[in-house]
Amino acid sequence: MKRTKKIFRTPNDLAEYFAKELSEKINRAAKKIKPINVALSGGNTPGILFSVLAEKHSLSTDWRYAHFFWVDERCVPPDDPESNYGMIRRLLIERIDIPEQNIHRMRGEDDPVTEAERYSGEIMQNVEVKNSIPSFDVIILGIGDDGHTASIFPGNEILLESNKVCETAIHPSSLQKRITLTGKVINNSKEIFFLVTGIKKSPVIEQIFSKDSNSAMFPASFIKSINGKTIWLLDEGAARSIN
Ligand code: 6PG
Repeated sequence: MKRTKKIFRTPNDLAEYFAKELSEKINRAAKKIKPINVALSGGNTPGILFSVLAEKHSLSTDWRYAHFFWVDERCVPPDDPESNYGMIRRLLIERIDIPEQNIHRMRGEDDPVTEAERYSGEIMQNVEVKNSIPSFDVIILGIGDDGHTASIFPGNEILLESNKVCETAIHPSSLQKRITLTGKVINNSKEIFFLVTGIKKSPVIEQIFSKDSNSAMFPASFIKSINGKTIWLLDEGAARSIN
């Protein structure tokens, strides 16, 4: 399916645009009295999105139908500064009126293998399943300078093909343990949004958007929604070489 891109002048412009989109998607789902399942990524890039959502869309969004899941988690407790759940809790969840049962976090403090299995079950129980694979309504991804996405790192592309919902992984340089959604689950989402900002990301973006064979080394280049949309939201820094 099609891969499209939108380029924004600044990371803030990108966050403002996407926060509004997301709020509208949630409100449309609420009107239909239908849950909307959104999988969130951590890292630094989406922080600004969560802040804008909390600051500008807290009251205008009907959060009762929004269900948040995690794309990946670092295996640390929620109060650790590295926790993706902890970051999103502080920037967004604590500042909006969302029922606690709508927050489906990966438990980074638990044994990763056991937690990957438990979390797969939680997803299967709550998210629509299409062709035996869960299908999130919206999935938000970032990309590392090395081309990783979620916690699927170069050299561990086997996670793109795994038939499990979640797997464990290890960050190649810090050796931090991770839990991650697998590639097939990500590609089964109805809408996939990559959020990419900053000039440091421009070399990897150039590789992925040119048909360069090197991009095969980048797990993110294999991410494309099978039946839905894949949209790359970039700022001018990240898009410098493809503008
Ligand atoms: C994480 C992620 C990861 C992230 C990229 C980009 O937990 O680190 O979910 O896949 O999206 O590494 O991270 P930055 O936004 O910090 O560059």
